[in-house]
Amino acid sequence: MRHVKIAGTGSYVPEHIVTNDDLAGFLDTSDEWIASRTGIRERRISTGENTSDLAAAAAQRALEDAGVKAEELDLILCATISPDCFMPSVACMVQERIGASKAAAFDLVAACSGLVYGMATAAAFIESGMYRTILVIGAETLSKTVDWTDRATCVLFGDGAGAVVLTPSERRTGILASYLVSDGGKQDYLTLPALPLNNSFMVKKDEHQPEQSSILSMKGQDVFKFAVRSVVDQTKTLLTKAALTEEDIRYVVLHQANSRIIEQSAKSSGISQEKFFLNLDRYGNTSAASIGIALDELSRKGMLSDGDKLLLIGFGGGMTSGGILLEWSR
Ligand code: COA
Repeated sequence: MRHVKIAGTGSYVPEHIVTNDDLAGFLDTSDEWIASRTGIRERRISTGENTSDLAAAAAQRALEDAGVKAEELDLILCATISPDCFMPSVACMVQERIGASKAAAFDLVAACSGLVYGMATAAAFIESGMYRTILVIGAETLSKTVDWTDRATCVLFGDGAGAVVLTPSERRTGILASYLVSDGGKQDYLTLPALPLNNSFMVKKDEHQPEQSSILSMKGQDVFKFAVRSVVDQTKTLLTKAALTEEDIRYVVLHQANSRIIEQSAKSSGISQEKFFLNLDRYGNTSAASIGIALDELSRKGMLSDGDKLLLIGFGGGMTSGGILLEWSR
């Protein structure tokens, strides 16, 4: 079986910064409440760019970092829950934008676990020999999906995109183990409805049924507990699969949802908290983009060396969780 490595990373966030104080200007909230409950201090919010714009910019940077030309790509996978439209896919829009004329392209929905689901899917294509060079993107404009009058949700999220280029590795490095989990029984923890069913043949609608709208809603405390349980389960499973221990891990890159989830996960998983990378103070929860943005930041700051073992763990709507144990090599 071929091994699969990250050949390059890239990320992009909109320029416009919205601070907690900005939100307190029109919501009954405060910097103190948001920062102490979530760790978030500011987020980037799009003032006009859509998900495909952010995705294409992150993709371009990942290709440059990898030294890979767009025409060399065999596949583009975009993980998103906030596409520009149902059709065409964001992946197809990116394909056109960057000039990846030979690539197949499709979107994938696994909410905040999306980038990890995309990387595991891409790795399977490369391991099987079907494709060699794959661009995986996590991109979101969640700002268009939240109710900006609901202080319980809108303060948590931000817009952004992260991308990785995956290629075969000559050495036994790169992705050492992956683990994907889904629990549709908990689908009501996080929801973002699509179009309501509406056609000429419908049995008459219940007049009291509320109109379905495309607004994100969340059972915050249930999500919190699911997230911590998932991190513990993912850590144990991935370390066992790769025959490694907690001490072998250099960084844990969790989905950047909430600093308290990260603190609790560190306590429960037995990995020292200083190994957990944190940048949600500046970006908030960018869903499928967060792990890609974090990985790109670690790489560009020169914080990663060949041989470093990283745990990437996402959790989110579905409910889903996805993990990858990675040995960094460039
Ligand atoms: N500012 C001020 N007060 C707020 C607020 C805000 N932005 N949002 C909620 N509150 C209030 C609530 O109205 C409630 O008030 P009440 O006691 O008068 O009813 C109080 O704060 C406590 O609300 P609660 O929802 O119980 O808070 P919490 O401690 O559970 O924290 C979250 C809420 C969302 C921060 C927390 O549940 C969480 O982080 N969950 C995980 C969410 C997540 O990460 N989702 C994405 C995962 S992919």
